Amino acid sequence: MKYSEARLITGEDVQHYSFLQRKDPEIFSIFNQENKRQNATIELIASANAVSPGVLEAMGSALTDNVVEGYIGERYFSGCQEIDRLESLAMERAKRLFGAAHANVQPYSCSQANQAVYLTTMEAGERLLSMDLMHGGHLTHGAKFTMTAHHYEVHSYQVSRENEQIDYDRILRQAKEIRPKLIIAGASAYPRIIDFRRFRKIADEVGAYLLADMAHVAGLVAAGLYPSPVPHAHVVTSSTQKTLRGPRGGIILLGEQAADQLSRKIDSALFPGMQGAAHMHIIAAKAVALQEASQPEFAEYQRVVLNNARVLAADLEACGFRIVSGGTDTHLMLVDLRSRDITGREAESRLENIGITVNRNLIPYDVRKPWIASGIRIGTSAITSRGFGPEEMHTIATIIDKVLKGKPGAQILNQARQEVTRLCHQHTKNNSFTVAVPW
Ligand SMILES: Cc1ncc(COP(=O)(O)O)c(C=O)c1O
Repeated sequence: MKYSEARLITGEDVQHYSFLQRKDPEIFSIFNQENKRQNATIELIASANAVSPGVLEAMGSALTDNVVEGYIGERYFSGCQEIDRLESLAMERAKRLFGAAHANVQPYSCSQANQAVYLTTMEAGERLLSMDLMHGGHLTHGAKFTMTAHHYEVHSYQVSRENEQIDYDRILRQAKEIRPKLIIAGASAYPRIIDFRRFRKIADEVGAYLLADMAHVAGLVAAGLYPSPVPHAHVVTSSTQKTLRGPRGGIILLGEQAADQLSRKIDSALFPGMQGAAHMHIIAAKAVALQEASQPEFAEYQRVVLNNARVLAADLEACGFRIVSGGTDTHLMLVDLRSRDITGREAESRLENIGITVNRNLIPYDVRKPWIASGIRIGTSAITSRGFGPEEMHTIATIIDKVLKGKPGAQILNQARQEVTRLCHQHTKNNSFTVAVPW
């Protein structure tokens, strides 16, 4: 096939066209096996998704070969005309989608984006207030074994014992005591709406910056189904994978108020402060995903994601599981397993054996260690991308119920595996191995 005949290939015809099949069969066989595993698995990991062929094509494009440092108009390399056009398009799409005044599309990940915000807003040793990792916060928000904890004095807030939701009055009291330089609103395992306006009021009362990390909910925000933090926070960061359904990467957004004061500082904190050359193939894939996320079909997809999460949470509750905080407003839920006398770790492994992937997760005020945990986190983004709807949610809840009840025998486990296979066959995952082939 000539370069000009570059086209998309899918799992079906990859056998005939894969370069790797011929040149690196070892790697190719791993791809093949992983493709099979993904197709035979119900993916309930909350941060997972299935990107479009367009996003995959961009990531596998010749832009991988570009070496580009700096920003548009301030490059440290020549030959950047097309690249500048691309980055500018990605920035415009990000700004338009989220109503931001400034966008930086270069972060390699949300982790890097967060670090750039810390570098901009805090001096070493200054105080940061963020959600406790044990209560749903993220590692990069200052967990004790991270770089963030080495450089800053990290304080954390917890959810209320009563309703397992954020207690804004308590955070205000804490903030008045601690006087942090930066407050973070955002989480990895918090299923409820976060009141960003309220967080900004708290930040203003104590003279702190507010960072909203919307890594998990960005797709819902893009679809208008979750309140946008952009009008409220000084800075917003996000992953571009997860609900946004783009490549693995990050973005930084600034609203009208903070753009003048902070955009230049944040940009230079990211490059050269944190990162090197921009990953232009990933920026291209971000641009594709941002365009996709602006379409009505994407909003419809997110509506189904939310509905699937609500149906699954209600079904699991009806089976006798306790859902942390009593439900979900997002794509994810936390399931408390204590009523079944099984740990998160055991549940994760039992479900994996019958073809369902979830992750063990601490529940608020958990007495177990994170490695064991008393809960599992479940998300509906990936399976919704694959076409699962409410009917399938009922079946999945029944399977989870049977597999996590007592000590299920071989017959129950075999039946569960067959049900998973049936659902997977009905909804083939068809993005895998969709690559551009320029040879
Ligand atoms: C709230 C939050 N912030 C940041 C991250 C880190 O994202 P990335 O993997 O893009 O670095 C995550 C990842 O799960 C997250 O949940």
